[in-house]
Amino acid sequence: MRVLILHTPKGGSGKSTLARELAVAASRTMQVALADLDPQGTTSGWYQRRDAKVPALVTLDPAKPLQQLVDAGVDLLVIDTPPGQPAYLGALLASADAVLVPVRPTPDDLLAAAPIAASLSQSRAWAFVLSQVPPRTRLLVGALRQLAALGRVAPVQLTFRADYPAAAITGQVASEFSGKAADEATALWTYVQTILGATDATTAEGKPGQSDRAQGRRAGSRDAR
Ligand SMILES: Nc1ncnc2c1ncn2[C@@H]1O[C@H](COP(=O)(O)OP(=O)(O)OP(=O)(O)O)[C@@H](O)[C@H]1O
Ligand SMILES: [Mg+2]
Repeated sequence: MRVLILHTPKGGSGKSTLARELAVAASRTMQVALADLDPQGTTSGWYQRRDAKVPALVTLDPAKPLQQLVDAGVDLLVIDTPPGQPAYLGALLASADAVLVPVRPTPDDLLAAAPIAASLSQSRAWAFVLSQVPPRTRLLVGALRQLAALGRVAPVQLTFRADYPAAAITGQVASEFSGKAADEATALWTYVQTILGATDATTAEGKPGQSDRAQGRRAGSRDAR
């Protein structure tokens, strides 16, 4: 079983949105469990509004082993975490196969990026994902440059689009509809598989299991064009 964690101490950066998009995209080809560690219950509330049976929402005690999920045949566990840095999180982040860090292209989010990168130095594989990017903004180029200097940056960004919250009204995600939001969310899942080391697409984005500065720079320069 692979474990993918959405994490950033910054509130509102897009952890829950990304967790849901990626869990639903993954559940098209594998058995996926989604865990909500946030006492705000954003993802649990979304799940209650959802009709589809997959992914499965599971309750997780971060202090306990995940063997039960492995025994149940889960291929991928996606964990949505709360804002802040709860004490249990360090061990969980270090044990994950991949950690995604959503960042809005704002000075406030970017200020937090360096300490987050430092805190993930023990993690197997992690990447920043630009989130809620306003269309046609010059903020993107600077953000990509700054993030690429700190670590790997996903070559796919989630644009600020009403399709994300609109889909959540009915417990769905953007990729369950058609449109640009669906395309970018699906493309992000394709990329995430490469850092999870779960597909043969690995070679396109570099060696999985590393925080790769050069890789981040390549992604950044390509996207900044
Ligand atoms: N790409 C996007 N376009 C438009 N709205 C978005 C996008 N991503 C997230 N949002 C909205 O921004 C808000 C914050 O997103 P989300 O809940 O995913 O962040 P979070 O990091 O999980 O927040 P928290 O730290 O409170 O858990 C939500 O209302 C969500 O619907
Ligand atoms: Mg959240």
